[in-house]
Parts: sequence; C-alpha cells; structure tokens
Amino acid sequence: MSVAAVLTAAGSGSRLGHTLPKALVPLGGEPLLRHAARRLLEARTSDGERVTTLVVTAPPDDVDTVRTLLGHLGGDVVVVPGGATRQASVAAALDALGARGPDVDVVLVHDAARPLVPPALVARVVEAVRAGHGAVVPGVPVTDTVKQVGDPTRPAQSSVGSTDAGPRVWPVVRTVPRGDLRAVQTPQGFRLDVLLRAHAHGAHVAHDEALAASDDAGLVELLGEPVWVVEGHEDAAKITTARDLAVAELLLRAAPAAATGPVATTGPAPTAPTTGGHDDPARRRGGAVTTAEEAL
Ligand code: CTP
Ligand code: MG
Repeated sequence: MSVAAVLTAAGSGSRLGHTLPKALVPLGGEPLLRHAARRLLEARTSDGERVTTLVVTAPPDDVDTVRTLLGHLGGDVVVVPGGATRQASVAAALDALGARGPDVDVVLVHDAARPLVPPALVARVVEAVRAGHGAVVPGVPVTDTVKQVGDPTRPAQSSVGSTDAGPRVWPVVRTVPRGDLRAVQTPQGFRLDVLLRAHAHGAHVAHDEALAASDDAGLVELLGEPVWVVEGHEDAAKITTARDLAVAELLLRAAPAAATGPVATTGPAPTAPTTGGHDDPARRRGGAVTTAEEAL
C-alpha cells in the first residue's frame, strides 16, 4: 500500500496583489508550488515511507505550465485542472487518483500556498495516520487572544453637524479560551476511504465558494468522524498577502539551506532535492516574473 498527496495549486490568490496565479508566484526565484511539491516528495517517515504519487490541481489555463514546472522533480506527478473552489479542486484530484489504481491507502492534502512546509512535518502526519488515526491535521497554538464578535455597527454621530460616523465597530460576544485553540495547517492526512466518504458527503456544496469547506478535515468533521491534531510548524504558514510572501522571502534568505534543502526527519535521511537548490536555474534567474511562462 502507498501514500499519495494532493497538492492544491489552483485559484487566483487575489489578496497577494500579483498578476500570476498564487501557486506560480516566485519565492526565491522558484514558484510556490514547486517549493511545496519538492518538500512533499523529500519527506521520509521513520519506516522510510514516502509520497509516491502527487496529484496537482493547476489553474485551468496553466495545466501545461505546471506539468513543465514539475516535470524534473521525479516521482509520479499527475496534473489536473482545478475546480471553482478548493474543495472542488481536491475532489477533482481524488477522481484522478482513483483512476490511477487501487494501491493508495493514505492521502495527504497540501496547499501550494504553504511552500516552506518542513518535510519532517509531512512525515509526522503520515506516521499519525499509519498509527491508526483516520484524519490528521497539523496545528499550532494560537498566540493572540481571540474574541468572537457580532455584527458590526457604526456609532451614532459623535458631535452635532459632523458627517463622520466613526469607524466600524463590532460588539464582543465572548473571549474564546486560547489554550483550547489550534490554527491548523496542511498537509492534512487521511485514510483514503475516510477522505472519499467525506468528499462524497459534502459534494453538494463543492462549487459554492460561500459554502464549500476551506479544509478537508472540516468535511470529515461533518461526517461525524474523529479528526486528530499533531504538532504543526511555523514554517508551514500560509501565504495569503504580500506581507506573508515578504516574510517567506526573508526566511529563505536567512536560512537558505534549512529552507530549501533536505530537512532532518526522525527516519532515514531524505534524498537530495533534484531541483531548487542554489544551482537551480529558476533560483538563479530571480528578478520580476509576470507571466506563467516566465515562472518556468
Ligand atoms: N485552491 C485550489 N482551487 C481553488 C482555490 C484554491 O486548488 N479553486 C488552492 C490554492 O492554490 C491554495 C489553497 O487552495 O493552495 C488555499 O486557497 P487560497 O485561495 O490560496 O487561500 P485563501 O485563504 O482562500 O486565500 P485567498 O483569499 O487569497 O483566496
Ligand atoms: Mg481562496
């Protein structure tokens, strides 16, 4: 039996303020999705198990570009057009995975928007699924105090004749006990049968951005089946805004070896990356990239 991974890389990433689809935006000269794919394929569990099949959900107009980008990584890489929502994209990837044959029993789902995920974290998630947990998510403690709020209102005019209604304000409903909270990341890991049932159960909302699930574990929760948290890692942070991308650039620059090369796992040493090191042409090229082709 074997481990497959779905890498979600469709969607525009509009909050990044970039003309490229988010997954093709360069970080240290290499597109986000290739950072993520490389780290998924580098991971090794303590038993030496690794991801053998990678299914990538590409922006529909960039399927060929993504195939070319990932062609030199090695491994069985399948690229499919993504759907209208993240949930629909993962469902399309699971269809493609089903068509590859029956030997996969564990599947990871990882976001290209989390390009610096440590391979050791990928391995930890697989190991937790192999240890008997049907749905596993990495989570990190929440450091801010979190408050639930109600609908926003504008205060009454503060002084006679003023046209300034003041800032929008929200009433606080309650303070959520912080110790109980985890911010969850990807890769999320599943027994394949659990993830297939969860997606079948939630399929009726898959094409509606307002209703679709923002993560796969949420669909498993809706099935009423248990979901487990393992320790996450701050390097698996999601890139949503230009600020997030700038932080990731700084992290790469501060520790390029740790961020781009093999990362220690509890098991055998991972194989060296086939691309993306300091000699990778994509890294050397650097500079502004504004089209999908230039991302190559
Ligand atoms: N994704 C996808 N198919 C979609 C939409 C998103 O495969 N139709 C993927 C993205 O490529 C990304 C992940 O799902 O790896 C998370 O979505 P993303 O849009 O990046 O994150 P959001 O939190 O939704 O951020 P944004 O506000 O920029 O949409
Ligand atoms: Mg989105």
